Amino acid sequence: MRQTRHLPFKESADYIRKYFGAAHHDIAVVLGSGLGGFTAHLSDKKVLKTAEIPSYPQSTVVGHSGEIVSAELNDKRVLVFSGRVHYYESASTVNSALTGIVSHQLGIENIVLTNAAGILNESFDPGDLMLIKDQINLTFRNVLKDLGSLTAKPGPIYSGKFAAKMFAGAEKASVNLKAGVYLGLTGPSYETAAEVKMFRLLGGDAVGMSTVQEAIFAQSVGMNVAGISCLTNYCTGLTSKVLTHEEVTQIGARVDDKFSRLLTEFIALI
Ligand code: HPA
Repeated sequence: MRQTRHLPFKESADYIRKYFGAAHHDIAVVLGSGLGGFTAHLSDKKVLKTAEIPSYPQSTVVGHSGEIVSAELNDKRVLVFSGRVHYYESASTVNSALTGIVSHQLGIENIVLTNAAGILNESFDPGDLMLIKDQINLTFRNVLKDLGSLTAKPGPIYSGKFAAKMFAGAEKASVNLKAGVYLGLTGPSYETAAEVKMFRLLGGDAVGMSTVQEAIFAQSVGMNVAGISCLTNYCTGLTSKVLTHEEVTQIGARVDDKFSRLLTEFIALI
């Protein structure tokens, strides 16, 4: 893997490093829509509002608080991104991979990407947590190409070692962790019933509008990547109910306890 010469967001990363007093972080955690409650379980917290970080793209989505938190969890130091930028907000794969790019520049070697996702696989239920075993990037875009100076690294995007630790953590936390393939789209439209039928045939278990570019970038620079989807709703066509964004953020709040227990046990194992 060739090292990057000029990654974007260097100014942002320098500011974040200075703000947190050059603390070394063992792992970065990116919280998806409605999952911001995780930060309440952390101690020795220092909070940075992303609005004050120079050159840092801002999220406009409801359920994303726009904060970066440096904190202690057991004996690990974690850097939590509460909120991320989606492709549909800025039409930029580079902005979509912001959390991975910044974490890498801070020297963080491990990352957990979490998101809210719709259910394609009918054996799952709203409120389930799904380990992302693999992904299908149906954005038809790739951050490595758009960064220009990176080449892809062979091998799986999601670390098998981290998947095993996530299952071990789930057992300790008594969480019934599902596993499946995350299919990433640009959004912002929710899928049509016909698209849902196609995505199921393609092998997707859950669908969402984030994560894929962050994961591609992080893996390419040698970071260990884990992913967790919080399954918020059945996709269009699998239910007669009409989906709302409130539904997506409200389930996040409902799973907060088991989600936090899972991450806590996982992070203890890394
Ligand atoms: N589709 C796409 N993204 C989502 C969904 C969905 O049904 N639910 C939460 N994020």
